[in-house]
Amino acid sequence: MKKLKTMFSALALCAGMTAFAHAAPETIKFSHVVAENTPKGQMALKFRDLVAERIGDKYVVEVYPNSQLFGDGKEMEALLLGDVHFIAPSLSKFSKYTKKLQVYDLPFLFKDMEAVDRFQQSEAGQQLLESVKSKGLIGLGYLHNGLKQLSANDPLHVPGDADGKKFRIMSSDVLAAQFEAVDAVPLKKPFSEVFTLLQTRAIDGQENTWSNIYSKKFFEVQPYITESNHGVLDYMVTTSTEFWMTMPDEDRAVLKKALAEAVAHGNAIANEKSMKDRQKILESGRSKIITLSDDERQQWVEVMRPVWGEFQDEIGEDIIQAAVASNQ
Ligand code: LMR
Repeated sequence: MKKLKTMFSALALCAGMTAFAHAAPETIKFSHVVAENTPKGQMALKFRDLVAERIGDKYVVEVYPNSQLFGDGKEMEALLLGDVHFIAPSLSKFSKYTKKLQVYDLPFLFKDMEAVDRFQQSEAGQQLLESVKSKGLIGLGYLHNGLKQLSANDPLHVPGDADGKKFRIMSSDVLAAQFEAVDAVPLKKPFSEVFTLLQTRAIDGQENTWSNIYSKKFFEVQPYITESNHGVLDYMVTTSTEFWMTMPDEDRAVLKKALAEAVAHGNAIANEKSMKDRQKILESGRSKIITLSDDERQQWVEVMRPVWGEFQDEIGEDIIQAAVASNQ
């Protein structure tokens, strides 16, 4: 009898272990290329924490910042292959999948981040989240970083100052055209390579937001930053149709809500982060911040603005008009 009891307890233990093994939470990987102390970095961590709190018995979110898992040349393919489940690339990096998102790269399109936000929340902006659907990707929402500044080895006051200089850009033809418009040489390079390219002087400059310039220490190797606010760097939080649609409905609803809250958190801190990082760069004394006069700024606008016409057909005139209207 005692033997039988022991056998039953052993069986029960095995069954329990099997049930436990089945119940192990599924890993969700969130990969991105920036530092943790940025709006995107903070958003991803918030998402991880909310998931742990609300549905941690079923899912655990692992966040891989700083291109640790995939750099920006590879993260979309990795998403489609199921090697990662969430990414939030810059809107400038989707041109292989849709030309419509190029609207966000048009120079001097948005007067400030409030205008960007209005456009993103408009019908046209919301429809753009669907523009990658046919490629197996789902845009779950926009996340702000901020407006871009121009950094360089030499001071940039007027467009002629950029003549012949090499600038790193994200993988966007609009950004290439924007630098060609000022007779500069654009080079499409992954974010993870920018610091070294600048440090070794293989390139002369780059464009980015205050939080990226600060967190990746670009300001330590770029003596001048022109506060040009000439374009926007925002993100689309993206998953794959295959991952998202095969998940149980009730779990998807919990993740969707957690993500929306995490994005709202990232958006709420983006502007303040931007201003604080600008201040830290200023106080470091490593980089001089150049403020453009109205006349100087107008010169950049006049030279870069014709780029819009080159991409009007690919993007769609209606989308450009909707973006322009968001400035009012
Ligand atoms: C860049 O490549 O400069 C940015 O898109 C990086 C990022 O994700 O903010």
